[in-house]
Amino acid sequence: MILKIIFAAFSVACIFVQQLAALDTSLGGGSQDIVTWDKHSIMVRGQRVIFFSGEFHPFRLPAPGLWLDVFQKIKAMGFNGVSFYVNWALLEGKEGDFTAEGVFALEPFFEAAKTAGIYLLARPGPYINAEVSGGGFPGWLSRLPTGLRTRNSTYMDATQNYVSNIGGIIAKAQITNGGPVILVQPENEYSSGDPPFPDPVYFRAVEQQYRDAGIVVPFISNDNSPHGFFYDQGPPEWPIYGHDSYPMGFNDDISEWPVDALPTNYGDLHEEMAPNTPYSVIECQGGSWDPWGGYGYNKTAARQGPEYQRVFFKNFYSFGVTIFNIYMGVGGTNWGNMGYPEGYTSYDYGAPITEMRTVERENFSELKLQAMFLQSSPAYATAIPQNNTHANGSYTGNLNIATTAVLGNRTNFFVLRHADYTDTSTAKYHVTLPTSKGNITIPQLGGSLSLVGRDSKLHVTDYDVGGINLLYSTAEIFTWRNFGNHHILVVYGGPGETHELAIQGSGTTRIVEGPQNSVKFDKKQDSTIMQYTASDQRTIVELSNGLYIYLLDRYSAYNYWSIDLPSDTVSGNYTNTTTFLSTPIVKAGYLVRSIKVTDKTINLLGDFNSTTEIEIIGADNDISTLVVNNEPTEFQQDSHGVIKATVNFKGPDISLPVLSEISWKVLDTLPEIQKDYDDSRWMKASLSRSNNTERNLSTPMSLYASDYGFHSGYILYRTNFTSNGGESLHLETQGGSAYGHSVWLNDTFVGSFSGEITAYSWNQTFGLPAKKGQRYTITVLIDQMGYEENGSAGSSDMKTPRGILNYSLSGFKQSDLSWKMTGNLGGESYRDRIRGPLNEGGLFAERQGYHLPGAPISSWKNSNLGPMEGLREPGVAFYATTFKLDMPTGYDIPISLSFANNTDTTSSIRCQVYVNGYQFGKWIHNIGPQDIFPVPEGIWDYHGENYLAVSLWALEKGGGKVEKLDLVAGPVVQSSYPGRSK
Ligand SMILES: *[C@@H]1O[C@H](CO)[C@@H](O)[C@H](O)[C@H]1NC(C)=O
Ligand SMILES: *[C@@H]1O[C@H](CO)[C@@H](O)[C@H](O)[C@H]1NC(C)=O
Ligand SMILES: *[C@@H]1O[C@H](CO)[C@@H](O)[C@H](O)[C@H]1NC(C)=O
Repeated sequence: MILKIIFAAFSVACIFVQQLAALDTSLGGGSQDIVTWDKHSIMVRGQRVIFFSGEFHPFRLPAPGLWLDVFQKIKAMGFNGVSFYVNWALLEGKEGDFTAEGVFALEPFFEAAKTAGIYLLARPGPYINAEVSGGGFPGWLSRLPTGLRTRNSTYMDATQNYVSNIGGIIAKAQITNGGPVILVQPENEYSSGDPPFPDPVYFRAVEQQYRDAGIVVPFISNDNSPHGFFYDQGPPEWPIYGHDSYPMGFNDDISEWPVDALPTNYGDLHEEMAPNTPYSVIECQGGSWDPWGGYGYNKTAARQGPEYQRVFFKNFYSFGVTIFNIYMGVGGTNWGNMGYPEGYTSYDYGAPITEMRTVERENFSELKLQAMFLQSSPAYATAIPQNNTHANGSYTGNLNIATTAVLGNRTNFFVLRHADYTDTSTAKYHVTLPTSKGNITIPQLGGSLSLVGRDSKLHVTDYDVGGINLLYSTAEIFTWRNFGNHHILVVYGGPGETHELAIQGSGTTRIVEGPQNSVKFDKKQDSTIMQYTASDQRTIVELSNGLYIYLLDRYSAYNYWSIDLPSDTVSGNYTNTTTFLSTPIVKAGYLVRSIKVTDKTINLLGDFNSTTEIEIIGADNDISTLVVNNEPTEFQQDSHGVIKATVNFKGPDISLPVLSEISWKVLDTLPEIQKDYDDSRWMKASLSRSNNTERNLSTPMSLYASDYGFHSGYILYRTNFTSNGGESLHLETQGGSAYGHSVWLNDTFVGSFSGEITAYSWNQTFGLPAKKGQRYTITVLIDQMGYEENGSAGSSDMKTPRGILNYSLSGFKQSDLSWKMTGNLGGESYRDRIRGPLNEGGLFAERQGYHLPGAPISSWKNSNLGPMEGLREPGVAFYATTFKLDMPTGYDIPISLSFANNTDTTSSIRCQVYVNGYQFGKWIHNIGPQDIFPVPEGIWDYHGENYLAVSLWALEKGGGKVEKLDLVAGPVVQSSYPGRSK
């Protein structure tokens, strides 16, 4: 058995072995033999799997009915895997009270993955980072008097309830139980920290917790970059070694590529560090997070776009990577206060599948070409990456071009790029490649090959096309198919590039489509040589051995799709080369989800955004019925068996309420500043010490919100004093990047801090208009932006407190004042079990549940324009309205809330939007950049009543309003996806 062989190879002495021996030795590998691995790749039931995966966070799309849609799109991208985090903070908001129900339940996620045929890599933490509040740590961890992510039993005990529960849920979904989970990653980026970091005892203890919870599939690690922590242990005692890579960095100058950022030594490092495990990149940059005031996700998507994907991803293929997870594969939303302070509501990430689940980004199409190629190339899984130290000039003699070989038993792969990967010029080259017919200098039929701008290419030699030998190709392979004695090969190149292919065997050739002079032919090396220039006019060449070659350019190739036939008894409906390579190829447009051939009928499911000519390539010759999206569709089948049909796109009638024209209700949601406001049920700030180890108290009593169980959204403080006349108040508050605060003396506004991207805390002195002898109340409202992450193990960064850090009132001792505070209703004993522990903050309307459907708004004041009416003075108003939606069926139409303010005329305002109770947007106009807030179907009811509420906090004199707020529909797709639930 493979596990045993590897174990034998790894029973070399290593520094931690003695310590480990003291622990439970039953850890090794778990007791299963379905998922195994060797140095090349993982195997499922003995079959090699190139695990091509996209990161997708179910907690960032709280609409379980849409999960299958996302999985199908990932599958359509040529991927067979998804990696997902679980966010502890959402599942154990109250210590000891674990719950994973409703939108937080994972079982529907597993079911959807299984239905789509997607393998899962589970990453449940307990620490996840993930740009979520506290890095996934629940707020109550702030009170643990010990460093986090250490072996200290106080910390380990705190994690136990979560790990045993989530471990148990994941264990049930392992492949050993018929589920989709094949790998588990304990902890996350355990790659820096305070001594005793790196602590193998700690890391091992986390693994043991998961083994105890029933996890038997292999563990995999994700070092934040290739440091090699614990590599010398080797499996099965230690996980498969993996690391992360974000070569483009974050939020850098968006227009430029960084220099010296392309890793060229990762292959060598892998050989040094973990040569007996598959080369694994657990997070490969697939976009970028974007901070408050950032560039916006369309820009990060463009920067980490197709050029980046070609140059950097193909560089990883040159190291033979076979476990490759794109972070993020799918955008999502930091709804309900779940984000960390540096990030705003959208977590689109510039990912190939957007936050709105659209697949229109070129990032999606380019990745599809790459993934489809590798999934069609079983030889890649075992090919050996070669030393690339002398890559510049090798194989080409051109020092401006770097070539790295990945050599297989027979099939070889060559990755070419500019030696200076940032080079935007065009390099012409000839390349001499080793083949079974000796070294051949290509092109043989004249001209030269070219690398145009930032690009990287994969050339192959002796590549198996279902029994036909492709002696070489400089055109890149999309995929190939084998239908008995009928073979299809689809290749592409950049527009205008010359490419050459050689097919062994010297039969006759015929151009069956395209200009007769578009291909140069010759015969050499016992092969048919053909050269073409890639253009948007395709050429199809037929060879007498039954091979049809589709010669395309890259942009035409984007329209080709190939999806597994559903169901295969060996591994479930997971990508499996046997069935995969005999499924028809579809040329269509926006998206193809599945193709099913039964008897003489083809059933095709896809999404269309325009009238589309489709082709089905490789169908049997006697097809009688074509059904597209459940509609019988007219078609022609030509003499080569190719089916052609037209799918008509009919734009839907969409009618959305115009938010400036419907009726709104309004409530003053800052009654706390009124004279008769009763705060008797607020929490008294009575703790004279704090267990929070991150910062010493500067005040006689703790005013850290976390000490009183308030971890999300707005928080409020009140104190009273009798004036000696004209006091000044000094406050130091802290809320994280872009936070703000406002202060009132009774109902008189005294000042605000409107927020700055780099201001995590703020000192401010206010002159109080207080008259001697009068009693006053000070009210402080603070926007809490989430907890910092805890990236450094052993640190307590996530405990960085929120709230009032320090205060002084002239003429008073600190201890003369006593404070009360509030945050979300119930604090850690939160009430809304449907939307979880973080969705609510401490705004009066939230504490009353007025953000939830069914709020008694009829008794509120009418408001003509809602948030577009706004406030004339600083304060906080809460606007609400209800309306029906009746969206057309058969379409996927995302609906977003779009804010628009003219910068010149706006003072500082902060809005939160609630759709049917879910807080789905935090708009801070003076910080930006997000103005458009997508809200998924399932949160909206597309066929019923919806409750929309918007809070508006005006921070400056003169108040403020939203100038324009609209519901925006689109992009519209005619969709075959039926399943949308609440
Ligand atoms: C855990 O941390 C606490 C608080 O720092 C300390 O008192 C205790 O000794 C630590 N326990 C261990 C086993 O290190
Ligand atoms: C690659 O080649 C260089 C130069 O010949 C050598 O120094 C290096 O050790 C080689 N790396 C490996 C992993 O063999
Ligand atoms: C991003 O680009 C898409 C597609 O062009 C567009 O629909 C969308 O409005 C853009 N988003 C922003 C925030 O500009």
